[in-house]
Amino acid sequence: DALRGAAGRRPALRVDGARLLGCLAELGKIGADPAGGVTRLGLGPQERAARAFLAELCTSAGLAAETDAAGNLLVRRPGAASGAAPVLLVGSHLDTVVQGGRLDGAYGVAAAVEVLRVLHEHTVELPVEMVAVAFANEEGALVQAPFWGSRALCGALEDGLAAEDRAGRTAASYLAEAGGSPERLPEAVWPPGSVAAYLELHIEQGPRLESEGVPVGVVEGIVGRTILDIDITGQAQHAGTTPMPARRDALVAAAGITLAVRELAAGRALCTTATTGFLQVSPNVTNTVPGHVRMTAEVRDTDAGRLAVGEAALRRECARVAADSGCSVEVRVSSRSRPVATAPALRQVIREAAGALGLAQLSLPSGAGHDAQIMARIAPVGMIFVPSAGGISHAPAEDTAPADLVHGADVLLHSVLGAQAV
Ligand code: GLV
Ligand code: MN
Ligand code: MN
Ligand code: MN
Repeated sequence: DALRGAAGRRPALRVDGARLLGCLAELGKIGADPAGGVTRLGLGPQERAARAFLAELCTSAGLAAETDAAGNLLVRRPGAASGAAPVLLVGSHLDTVVQGGRLDGAYGVAAAVEVLRVLHEHTVELPVEMVAVAFANEEGALVQAPFWGSRALCGALEDGLAAEDRAGRTAASYLAEAGGSPERLPEAVWPPGSVAAYLELHIEQGPRLESEGVPVGVVEGIVGRTILDIDITGQAQHAGTTPMPARRDALVAAAGITLAVRELAAGRALCTTATTGFLQVSPNVTNTVPGHVRMTAEVRDTDAGRLAVGEAALRRECARVAADSGCSVEVRVSSRSRPVATAPALRQVIREAAGALGLAQLSLPSGAGHDAQIMARIAPVGMIFVPSAGGISHAPAEDTAPADLVHGADVLLHSVLGAQAV
């Protein structure tokens, strides 16, 4: 079939490892945080700068780069007519969390661009043209609308333009500055049938591959996630004069919820993970009983039923804490993403690509969210993981051995060739 045909004709094809690592090093400087790691927030100026850097690199390499209305970067080989036939979309995101690493997202984008360059240089003709993509605002770290770019492309951004940052500034107002266009946002939607398949290469962000000494992960599925915004209102009072029984301490309530959130997964095993990661205390003063707390809680699972059970239990815990503490606790859904399975045919393509390169592989689920889970709404998706040093990610210590980064990109290259028949 065309899959083996294309791959079989080019078995010796490899990415330029030094070029890939050089590109990643340059990207890592954009948004380098003086406090450590990389802070390149989605729809912010650093994400735009990273996109501009890559667009320039692609243009110099003879590729055609454009930014769509949602702020996604799309890169094509010259002459590959846009919209003419279904394409193989390959990419990830360029944004990071606050003080994140230099590889989460950027690796998959840089590798996709590298693969496109190799195909272009070797004039490899593909029955299904490959398009590289850098999705905007995957993390939702600034504007609370994760998977922004992939949702926009799939027509699933819903009320995304109304999403806000923590200060109440809307996504719409960020988007124009980010190089997109709120007015033309519907133009970022791709028509049904335009994506033949989506591939994403990513660092694992967890410990499995490293601990098992395996260089390549074939992702079986991706967790769904529900994020709740929780607002706790008590009464700010004097810390020295307010008797203990008379207090309505919003931080004590938040502490109760935080421990209960952990128990949902750790003790009660209702869902796989449950985390409180954001907490804002006001007035945040030593000698005042805290009157107000804003916090988040998120639950994750690969099973939609367990995800719903985790959320329901979390809501009950919030109600219990409200009753116990005398504070009012308001809960609002900030975002939901569904668990998805990757396409068995693409898993097989990835396994064969790794096998042909002599690389061991293992199958594993993803506990992190990825644009691939949004793309699964409109196309079969496949994901490749490479090891993360110490399993650490969303932190400055995030790292992967250079050889593993290059191997992963070679697996991506041969998966692109192999996916031609899927
Ligand atoms: C976001 O993508 C996450 O997994 O936290
Ligand atoms: Mn991330
Ligand atoms: Mn990521
Ligand atoms: Mn992610």
